[in-house]
Amino acid sequence: MNALGKALLGFWGSSIGKKLIVAVTGVMLVGFLIAHMVGNLLIFQGRESLNDYGYFLHHFLHGWGIWIFRLGLLGAFALHLVATIALVRENRAARNTRYAYDATVQAPRSSRMMIWSGLTVLGFVIFHLLHFTVRIDPDLAKMKDPMDPSRHDVYGMVIAGFQSPIVVLFYIVAVSFFCTHLNHGISSLFQTLGLRSEKTRWVTGKIGIAVTLILWLGFISIPFLTSVNLLKDEGVPEKSAAHGSAVETISES
Ligand code: HEM
Repeated sequence: MNALGKALLGFWGSSIGKKLIVAVTGVMLVGFLIAHMVGNLLIFQGRESLNDYGYFLHHFLHGWGIWIFRLGLLGAFALHLVATIALVRENRAARNTRYAYDATVQAPRSSRMMIWSGLTVLGFVIFHLLHFTVRIDPDLAKMKDPMDPSRHDVYGMVIAGFQSPIVVLFYIVAVSFFCTHLNHGISSLFQTLGLRSEKTRWVTGKIGIAVTLILWLGFISIPFLTSVNLLKDEGVPEKSAAHGSAVETISES
């Protein structure tokens, strides 16, 4: 094995190496979430803004951009998961050795919560990808932008996708669980990166809460406002048989 391979193996073999991997991939995933939330909020500017953004995502770098981005995201997600599982197993093994005769010793509550909320995130992401990216519902998959039928109607799809109260409830509960994971994750991240000391504990705690709260509000606002009819599709695609009238309805609003 060459020197680089040995160094990488040594890094992975050490507990601080894995903690760093969890922290750095965590920063990447939080970066993705902030960008995704900001992109989603374009829905409040109307159909054209959100659909332009969707079109850009699928076409930048001649369509390669989104695949490069997806590979990076998947890699970060996989490394985050595998390194976390390895750390949990190491901690458990160390605890079992130390407390071999003490059956009452359990994993800390917060770390058990992290595993369960992390699994909820995984379940949510799978559902969400099938819902809006793979679009297994043919009604959502075939929606076309009434102003430019050559492209997908992301705006109409999101609003139609949140017409079911069960789906809305699922999103709100899952995103809330997800945010508890994030809040704990962000504060551990500061610790791993050596940015949390007695002096900075207060600030880092508040940064974690602020980032989590902004993401929570930003993400749940869309399903919630759709469910109470405050966010609605003014230019319904079915009406766009009379294409011109749909465009007029939108440009008037
Ligand atoms: C609850 C509010 C959310 C809404 C309205 C929403 C909306 C969307 C939409 C419309 C797409 C498809 C974009 C397109 O292909 O044009 C998408 C993709 C995606 N969303 Fe969300 N999302 C939400 C929350 C989340 C959360 C909380 C996560 C992460 C845990 C997430 C992760 C993703 C991922 C990984 C993709 C796939 C990106 C790709 O195409 O590679 N979303 N979302």
